[in-house]
Amino acid sequence: MSENNGDKPWGGRFSEATDAFVEEFTASINFDQRFYRQDIEGSVAHSAMLAKVGLLTEDEKQQIHDGLAVILKQADQGEINWSVALEDVHMNVEARLTDLIGDVGKKLHTGRSRNDQVATDIRLWLREQIDFILNELKRLQRGLVNLAEQEIDTILPGFTHLQVAQPISFGHHLLAWYEMLVRDVERLEDCRKRVNTLPLGAAALAGTTYPIDREYTAELLGFDRIANNSLDAVSDRDFAIEFTATASIIMVHLSRFSEELVLWASAQFDFIDLPDRFCTGSSIMPQKKNPDVPELVRGKSGRVIGDLISLITLMKSQPLAYNKDNQEDKEPLFDTVDTLMGSLRAFADMMPHIKTNKEAMRMAAMQGFSTATDLADYLVGKEMPFRDAHEVVGKAVGYGVEHKKDLSEMSLDELQQFSSVIGEDVYEVLTLEGSVSARDHLGGTAPNQVRLQIATAREQLG
Ligand code: ARG
Repeated sequence: MSENNGDKPWGGRFSEATDAFVEEFTASINFDQRFYRQDIEGSVAHSAMLAKVGLLTEDEKQQIHDGLAVILKQADQGEINWSVALEDVHMNVEARLTDLIGDVGKKLHTGRSRNDQVATDIRLWLREQIDFILNELKRLQRGLVNLAEQEIDTILPGFTHLQVAQPISFGHHLLAWYEMLVRDVERLEDCRKRVNTLPLGAAALAGTTYPIDREYTAELLGFDRIANNSLDAVSDRDFAIEFTATASIIMVHLSRFSEELVLWASAQFDFIDLPDRFCTGSSIMPQKKNPDVPELVRGKSGRVIGDLISLITLMKSQPLAYNKDNQEDKEPLFDTVDTLMGSLRAFADMMPHIKTNKEAMRMAAMQGFSTATDLADYLVGKEMPFRDAHEVVGKAVGYGVEHKKDLSEMSLDELQQFSSVIGEDVYEVLTLEGSVSARDHLGGTAPNQVRLQIATAREQLG
């Protein structure tokens, strides 16, 4: 590098070289090289637009395109030595282009700034990542629906406060997870609309004096809209915050699934068996098979929430327009995408291999008086007000606790101690199947309804 920073694209006004540490400290190339493809794609479109409006000749445009194609290939093959002295991916690509094709390369930056360039690159990159994530989310949804279909008639206790509440279909439980993901998909698709907005043309902050054609650039890059305000276009990162917020909600959902899988795989519940290849052992306790994948996903939810906090705090109080603070948007965003993709992949891979222990689920549903509400509803059917019925069943449960008997295990005489309206027909409602199939309305746990929900889900998934 020359004494006065003459090698830097912005070196003109400087009279001394950048401090070596400051150069390292302010550079982003170590992480923003990750979107060299989008940077090149943006430059291809920008130069095509410049040629269209007469700011480049066809020949100049062609030289630029050929040069960029070479750089893309070299970068794909890992042949580029990204330079910290050139600060970021934008200046690295531009400098390399000029090395390759000579002075024509210096015309590429006409009518643009790194400020609108970087905003464009991130949006192009994130748009693609959102599509990958949507695919993975849908793969997981399919896995859930397939498992739910196998488990429509499997009964387990539904819990509130992690205490046995009422018997439910395991298929129904799995579809609760599916529904959470439906909303996650919707949120992500909605976020994608705002991500897919073109900042290029905003230049540094105020727009440019050249007769640019932003519609054309947007069309070439597949953007649905063009940012209306140049100051806003180069500065806000709300699209990244929104994405990370959506990702945080997905991770919170995955952490809830994880928690249940961890509980269910324990010897105390023993509801499921996770495939060996998704678990690890202990170096000291030979009997252990640990549910590492769900545990890690549960833990990783914290990282993504942390990334959201980083990004939202990064944006807080920033005056218009671009500030160097915004260079800090990339690492949390990358981390969110990587963590989310990894977690979704692990879950989607694991889902088809989860084995259920129907007997253990059934036994658990038999304990804890899970059909107590059904007995109360039965009494209401015999004209007893619900509050009185609640009281009667409470007493019956107290008796059951004392004598270690489920309601369904009590004789008619025993049950009639609590209310004379109880008849032989009570046993139909005290069975697990009777209880589950009685909740036969939209959103209920009756197998009929679960079947309908599965059909709806299959339609949604296409
Ligand atoms: N590396 C920068 C970033 O990530 C690119 C934009 C730099 N713009 C500037 N005016 N220094 O934000």
